[in-house]
Amino acid sequence: APDIPVADVKADLAKLQSIADANNGTRAHGTAGYQQSLDYVKGKLDAAGFTTKVQEFTSGGEKGANLIADWPGGDESKTVMSGAHLDSVPAGPGINDDGSGSAGILEVALAVAKADLKPTKHLRFGWWGDEEDGMVGSSHYVDSLGADTAKFDSYLNFDMIGSPNPGYFVYDDDTRLEKVFKDYFASKSIATEKETEGDGRSDHAPFKDAGVPVGGLFSGADYIKTDAQAKAWGGEAGKAFDACYHEACDTAKNIDDKALENHTNAIAHAIWELSS
Ligand code: PHE
Ligand code: ZN
Ligand code: ZN
Ligand code: ZN
Repeated sequence: APDIPVADVKADLAKLQSIADANNGTRAHGTAGYQQSLDYVKGKLDAAGFTTKVQEFTSGGEKGANLIADWPGGDESKTVMSGAHLDSVPAGPGINDDGSGSAGILEVALAVAKADLKPTKHLRFGWWGDEEDGMVGSSHYVDSLGADTAKFDSYLNFDMIGSPNPGYFVYDDDTRLEKVFKDYFASKSIATEKETEGDGRSDHAPFKDAGVPVGGLFSGADYIKTDAQAKAWGGEAGKAFDACYHEACDTAKNIDDKALENHTNAIAHAIWELSS
């Protein structure tokens, strides 16, 4: 897989920050900041040749939307889907949570187009609405699939991949998918741990509940980095992986560039390998 230029991921995060700045500091469900975030991502995907769909739903009396993007070709009875939530909490711009995952999968999708990839399996990407009220958008999407959940090879979730005091956590839900990420990081001499903080706490949960094999990456939220973890990964022991988790200070400054780069490259590797 190609390496993904981290400057491109950062440019997306700067755009999401500017959208929040223009909309009372947030990109939360039901706000103009959310709609503008969706329009930005959709515009890039459309220009690159993806087939995009906006799936609307209602939550808390407000209209919400998922953005689904298909890369034409590949066996649709073996779909490899990757997703991230595009909404923030009302308190802030949500740049690490989850602008990071949203921008990371966007740039990998654009790399798929640039490479004119012809994968054996079908590739799909999803940007979820209203994760922060309990995975509302992703649950709505999985419900809408019905029996089509059987056509999924895998669902990969990326919720927080640029934490400022980063860790490298790999979802352990499915051994095959876990191994793809673990092998990638091992090849870069980056230590990993099994992801335990997030079980049931992000958009992979509805897919897993429907029987789809799930995997993903996570760089840490409000748990505290241990001494052993600081030795393995650098950063500061005794401090949260992301002290600005769900706060107004989750801005474009709340990102570790190297973690963002490593995680985005791992996503590209996994998507190339799993879809080949
Ligand atoms: N889903 C959580 C949120 O958006 C973040 C999270 C992801 C927490 C993964 C733990 C593990 O707030
Ligand atoms: Zn959150
Ligand atoms: Zn999140
Ligand atoms: Zn690779």
